[in-house]
Amino acid sequence: MTITVSAPGKLMLFGEHAVVYNRPCIVTAVGLRFYVTLEETNGNSITIDSSLENEQYKISVPDLISSSIYPDKVSFVLAAIQHLYRKYGIDKGIAVTTRGPDRSFGLGSSSAITVAIVKALSELFSLNLSTSEMFDLSYQAVLTVQKKASGFDVAAALYGGTIYFLTGGKTILPLEVGQLPIIIGYSGKKVSTVNYVAAVNSLYEKHTWAIESIFELMNQLTERAKDKFLLSDWLTLGEFANLNQGLLESLGVNTFDLAKLIFAARKAGALGAKLSGAGGGDCMYAIATPDTSALVKQSIIDAGGEIVNCDLNADGARLE
Ligand code: MEV
Repeated sequence: MTITVSAPGKLMLFGEHAVVYNRPCIVTAVGLRFYVTLEETNGNSITIDSSLENEQYKISVPDLISSSIYPDKVSFVLAAIQHLYRKYGIDKGIAVTTRGPDRSFGLGSSSAITVAIVKALSELFSLNLSTSEMFDLSYQAVLTVQKKASGFDVAAALYGGTIYFLTGGKTILPLEVGQLPIIIGYSGKKVSTVNYVAAVNSLYEKHTWAIESIFELMNQLTERAKDKFLLSDWLTLGEFANLNQGLLESLGVNTFDLAKLIFAARKAGALGAKLSGAGGGDCMYAIATPDTSALVKQSIIDAGGEIVNCDLNADGARLE
């Protein structure tokens, strides 16, 4: 039997970094989809063929079960299989193939692949896992590799749509939003989330009083943004995006390249703009009305960015 599951990437809208420290965030799933195909094989080896990472890898089930090493290019796939095999006592060989869009722009390929493999394994071995069981397994796998992570990207990949999320999945609330007037700009640089989460953590350890206050303001913005999304109040959300950007700047995760795109978008008439995710590179987004949208896009390009054209509010993980 062959099973294929796809899962979407994500765009963080509000609350990054604070969400690692028990605060909420808002995230939307994006229509860049990542695919995992599984096939049961004779014998007890797991083979991974990743066209995403241009990598082929093989390990026996017993070795994987006892391993604590997760080679870079297949780390999320191995951690996900390991967690699920350990929990359900599975010892069968499988062939795993992963694929995705040519470019992922730092928009959540690892979490999408992790979720897709957990759902595909649930189907292949008829485990009938609930969405929350799949969230827990996928989140554990991500934590195994990244050590510190909120799990918001796992929730976006699994549930899809636009969600209000609290650290570790304590709350996962789908938000009924309409068309999101959001433009995504890619800075040209892909970065490691782990390094930026660690940098913010060391600042947090040194100046807890200050960073706690910043996180608390981010919390307030996200809470209010949730209501504004339901009202499609883009004007206020633009102002909130600018405020959130100022707070991210104070955490030291903004870069000159991101700032150029953000200022260019605002100057071209965007209602607001901020970086999205860990910072250091990857993407920013701008909120723009239909009459300024073309100009905002062009200004992001002129400032050295690239427009990422993809659907927002995309479907969550699904069997293909
Ligand atoms: C990274 O895209 C978002 C962070 O908040 C990390 C996380 O939530 O796991 C920085």
